[in-house]
Amino acid sequence: MVVRDDQGYLLYLTLNMIKYVSLFVAEVESLRWATEYTKQCGWRRLEWETDAKEVEKVGWKVNWRIRNNNMVVNAVAKLSLSINRASVFDEFSLDLIPPCNMGKILAEKVNVALEMKKHYKLEVEYMFRAPDCIERPVLAVNGQFPAPTIRARRGDTMVIKVTNRLYTDEVSIHWHGIRQRGTPWADGTSSIAQCPIRPGESFVYRFKVDKPGTFIYHGHHGLHRTDGLYGFLIVEVAEGEKEPFHYDGEFNLLLSDWWHRPAHEQQIMLSAKPFRWVGEPQTLLINGRGQYNCTLAPGYATSNSSYPPCNFKGHEQCAPTILNVLPNKTYRIRVVSVTGLGSENLIIANHTMTVVEADGNYVEPFTVDNLDVHTGESYSVLISTNQNPNENYWVSVGVIARPFIIPPGLTILNYLPNSAWKLPISQPPLHPRWDDLEHNKNFTKSIFALKGTPKPPRKAHRRIVLLITDHLVDGYTKWAVNKVSLVLPSTPYLGAIKYGLKHAFDQRPPPENFANDYDIMRPAYGNATFGNGVYVLDFNTTVDLILQNANAMDNFSGSHPWHFHGHDFWVVGHGEGKFSEKDVKKLNLKNPPLKNTEVVFSNGWTALRFVADNPGVWLFHCHLEHHLIMGMGVVFSVGVDRLPELPPEGLACGLTAEFLMRHKHT
Ligand code: C2O
Ligand code: CU
Repeated sequence: MVVRDDQGYLLYLTLNMIKYVSLFVAEVESLRWATEYTKQCGWRRLEWETDAKEVEKVGWKVNWRIRNNNMVVNAVAKLSLSINRASVFDEFSLDLIPPCNMGKILAEKVNVALEMKKHYKLEVEYMFRAPDCIERPVLAVNGQFPAPTIRARRGDTMVIKVTNRLYTDEVSIHWHGIRQRGTPWADGTSSIAQCPIRPGESFVYRFKVDKPGTFIYHGHHGLHRTDGLYGFLIVEVAEGEKEPFHYDGEFNLLLSDWWHRPAHEQQIMLSAKPFRWVGEPQTLLINGRGQYNCTLAPGYATSNSSYPPCNFKGHEQCAPTILNVLPNKTYRIRVVSVTGLGSENLIIANHTMTVVEADGNYVEPFTVDNLDVHTGESYSVLISTNQNPNENYWVSVGVIARPFIIPPGLTILNYLPNSAWKLPISQPPLHPRWDDLEHNKNFTKSIFALKGTPKPPRKAHRRIVLLITDHLVDGYTKWAVNKVSLVLPSTPYLGAIKYGLKHAFDQRPPPENFANDYDIMRPAYGNATFGNGVYVLDFNTTVDLILQNANAMDNFSGSHPWHFHGHDFWVVGHGEGKFSEKDVKKLNLKNPPLKNTEVVFSNGWTALRFVADNPGVWLFHCHLEHHLIMGMGVVFSVGVDRLPELPPEGLACGLTAEFLMRHKHT
């Protein structure tokens, strides 16, 4: 088995350990036998080798069971690791045959059985950190910021116990990109799938990861993502399976934006009357690290300001994570964006990137100089380290689609054995201009599904057109979809719908379209209302969602990356202006990419098709966190009557709590 830690080091727990399957006998039902067996077969304690300082503990426990004849016939083994303070453990049982033959059997069993269940414990707490050299409270998990990387294999069942160690805040964690087939209650959306976890309490998320890919987990309550509650969730192919491409090593880049103002205050501002805008973020972070008011690139200046060089020793919380590579190898870089407001563009100077995965789906490989990543999207790109090995190269992240004036986030691609601090000889690369929409569109339109990806059904049963505008609703500044601004109810929808609690939310279905004569090029006009009705979709029907962008009240139309819970969709088209019936013929039904997040560009439309085959209640929303909280989202319910009894742990609030008490639910 190979386990990788956060930084991409390899921790080998090779199965050679079988040779000396060092039985670290802890809980022994018959100590005598265990000791003798261990001695007789020449086994020693489990030994391991790793570079990773983050590995704190490795333990290997075996429960022996003895049958007659003093023969050991069965044992339950438990392998546990603490990596970066997250613990993983696996349990499996071994059938044993007479002394010393066990090795071989173990080897096989371990391979299979180790992958079955992955247990994690995540504790969410506020800590003081200085991600961009300025200290403030951040949301950390198990004492780490960003939250530790979780790794699993396709087919694994994740058992993740999340404990809320915040003093006054509730919390919930969403597993972004995991479809939660059959486990909609584990989606982690507060107000939709579950009641948020109260301070001091825990909630166990159990779900299966059924697809390999690059995913994320993040807070899904209030603006928790903006406070830093995010980490990687990486699903590797199952044992024995192969990715459709080759690579020698891997890095993860988690892109985010960072404010010095805590999210709680931002939330109050966004909800105030009159509205107070939170402003643009101060810093772009790469793997939770960025530099405010100084630069890694001496002499670097924007037209607005110049920055003094950063003086790093390397262990500062805002020192960059250096990417160490060897020359002439291929690396897979997994990139995700969890930004609150911006979309980002990634460049690795002098290196092209071949895109091979998007949102946990393989794509037809294509090569780019720079990569657009909208919040909620994930990509894997391959690079080959074929440049002059005596130099290091810039890795740069800049903002697109918003007029930010903050400098790019930087780190270094370090060709070993050069020193990490040997600065690249040239200035950091330039990103496309923030308003170079053509560039963004070209990138998005170059993504096609890898051959062999399932194709969408030819026809949709239903089309829902969603117009995006902002309005003053009762004097509050809000976003709206078809003139309805989403206000999440206090009773989560899933329980409310399952148990028919009609007072929990608006029973009128929201509009399927907007007025025919609405002019998307005028500043947003007309009246909007607050609402929380649900689009009820018939199970197994094919649905088209058309996102229709328009001007906001300020006469500007920004890009919005929309994310869907519970399903992947096919991106069947993008277009300019208003979507119309004649665009239907032009949709790409041949090789559209499957994604879970897709952007709708300024004054244009995006067409998505999906099959509503996953019973549950699912949010579809703009992944700009500040937009979601201002109402930019809609809710779908699919075949909830087909679900079994819901686990009651997530229902202990609002009307479902009352309902459970009345029905003495167990
Ligand atoms: Cu990544 Cu509903 O979010
Ligand atoms: Cu938005």
